[in-house]
Amino acid sequence: MAGPETIDRAMIGTTRRLNPHTNTLEWSRLPTSKLKNPHLDPERRESVLYRIHPELEKGRLIYQMGTANPERAVQAAKMVAADVAGIDVNSGCPKPFSTAGGMGAALLKTPDLLVDILTSLVEHVGKPYEIGISVKIRILEDPADTRALVSRLVKTGITGLTVHCRTTPMRPRERAIRDQLRMVGDICRTAGVACVMNGDVTSRAEALQLMREFSVDGAMIATEAEKNPSCFRPDAEGGPHEWKSQWKTVVAEYMQLALQVENRWGNTKYLLGQMIPGREDAYKRMNQSKCYTDVIRALGLDAEGDLLEKARVVDQHLGIPNAQLTPAQKRQRVKDSLQQGADQGEKEQSADQGEAKHETDRDEPDAKRIKVPDSAIVDGSMASTAEVATALAA
Ligand SMILES: Cc1cc2nc3c(=O)[nH]c(=O)nc-3n(C[C@H](O)[C@H](O)[C@H](O)COP(=O)(O)O)c2cc1C
Repeated sequence: MAGPETIDRAMIGTTRRLNPHTNTLEWSRLPTSKLKNPHLDPERRESVLYRIHPELEKGRLIYQMGTANPERAVQAAKMVAADVAGIDVNSGCPKPFSTAGGMGAALLKTPDLLVDILTSLVEHVGKPYEIGISVKIRILEDPADTRALVSRLVKTGITGLTVHCRTTPMRPRERAIRDQLRMVGDICRTAGVACVMNGDVTSRAEALQLMREFSVDGAMIATEAEKNPSCFRPDAEGGPHEWKSQWKTVVAEYMQLALQVENRWGNTKYLLGQMIPGREDAYKRMNQSKCYTDVIRALGLDAEGDLLEKARVVDQHLGIPNAQLTPAQKRQRVKDSLQQGADQGEKEQSADQGEAKHETDRDEPDAKRIKVPDSAIVDGSMASTAEVATALAA
């Protein structure tokens, strides 16, 4: 399971501490902007840059990094290395906020630098901490170029390589290209590096079939996992499609978890918007909600154990809804927050705002529009989007 890409610069300078309310480990620091919210718990004025749940995620979570500098990559990786199962370098993000800094897909054009980053991570983090270092790439236009690149990458000491079967200019709605997959898988296998395929995989059964067909070791599902967390469910247990009739069960379980970890409200609302069918009344009621207490009532979950009471406590901790702010103050806060994100290259905020712009243009014709309150992005910290990029390994 891969967490949201987190930029090396953003991690450097954070403090690691345990959140006693949620038992999550958080890497946080004071925001660089002048944001101040007197309504928030003082601890909450800090931006949480990265967050993990050691009990639920340890041994399974890969920290994915945005970087364009070997020294900074090592410095940032060391801050989380003891708490994660591996470190992955994102060399596939095509968005300008990533590529402009030489990160993401820009690294595909600077293979010397990418090799340097991976070698440094293997040497200074992978070996001493005994964790795997991996990389996520896109295919290149010319298969010969992909071959040359992958052949170099597998010699850096990495343990895994994920290949997104689209080229950098391709839009998310364009079908993934499988032509180069077998070749990439073969190079990885010969070098003893696990190869994970990605792009247009929508279920466990499809993943297993594709893995067999192309002789690769795993498959990563992103878009489909966002709207249907049951996509990993084996057919024998009901398969991925049952959610259409069972979405209430999925949503009830998701709310338990969101409250347990005090997930950022904007991200919770965004994902609920993915999971609840748009035609349902509950979808409209959910869309009107301004906090956890509202949404628990809107979904008719107030009779379920102590969910309503938990929701009240979480709202209080998160300082939502923040009714005291005037619309002008909210607009200013959004502006400041976006500026802060731009400064730090923290693109994952976009998922917090319900517009998961990361590597996706959200230009699917049937994309739903979710109203997410400004208060969701007040401190500019990241969404917990681990749900959306999950690998199924053989
Ligand atoms: C909401 C969202 C967030 C994403 N965040 C990341 C990320 O942090 N790092 C990354 O390498 N790819 C990220 N991606 C891209 C996916 O990992 C994947 O490469 C791409 O969506 C293609 O796979 P799919 O066809 O299963 O969606 C994200 C995609 C979505 C939809």
